[in-house]
Amino acid sequence: MDQGYKIIQIPRISDNRGDLSFVELNQLLDFSVQRVYWLYGIKTPRGGHAHKKLKQLIFSAHGSVHFLLDNGKNRKTIQLNSPQTGLVIYSPTWREITHFTSDATVIILASEVYDEEDYIRSHDEFIQWKSHFSI
Ligand code: TYD
Repeated sequence: MDQGYKIIQIPRISDNRGDLSFVELNQLLDFSVQRVYWLYGIKTPRGGHAHKKLKQLIFSAHGSVHFLLDNGKNRKTIQLNSPQTGLVIYSPTWREITHFTSDATVIILASEVYDEEDYIRSHDEFIQWKSHFSI
């Protein structure tokens, strides 16, 4: 089974003024971005859901968080602690956001506008959904 996510390197241009990073659609991302949102002031673990259709590029602009990623068969934890490390989730993946530092700021570029109907908020339902729709 395809794991449903990948890590990409986000370019960085550094000079004596500091660092600059960018994401060019079509080059680095194979979906168009309909929504950008960010998590900050994180106080408790977040996530605990999957999306049916949504694709996302996620990176930590500041601080560090862990993403627990579950594709229905395997679980893996990825640490995001650099603006140059992008996590692309491109097919339904259960995620939990844990082990955040108090300064963590997580930016998400999303392929769709917000739609509660796209969420799977029960892990049992996610496992059922994967068994129906995955090859
Ligand atoms: P949710 O996706 O459950 O947050 P997380 O997975 O990070 O814990 O969203 C929290 C609340 O914010 C929920 O009521 C839906 C709302 N929301 C929006 O209105 N627009 C958005 O783009 C997002 C991501 C959430």
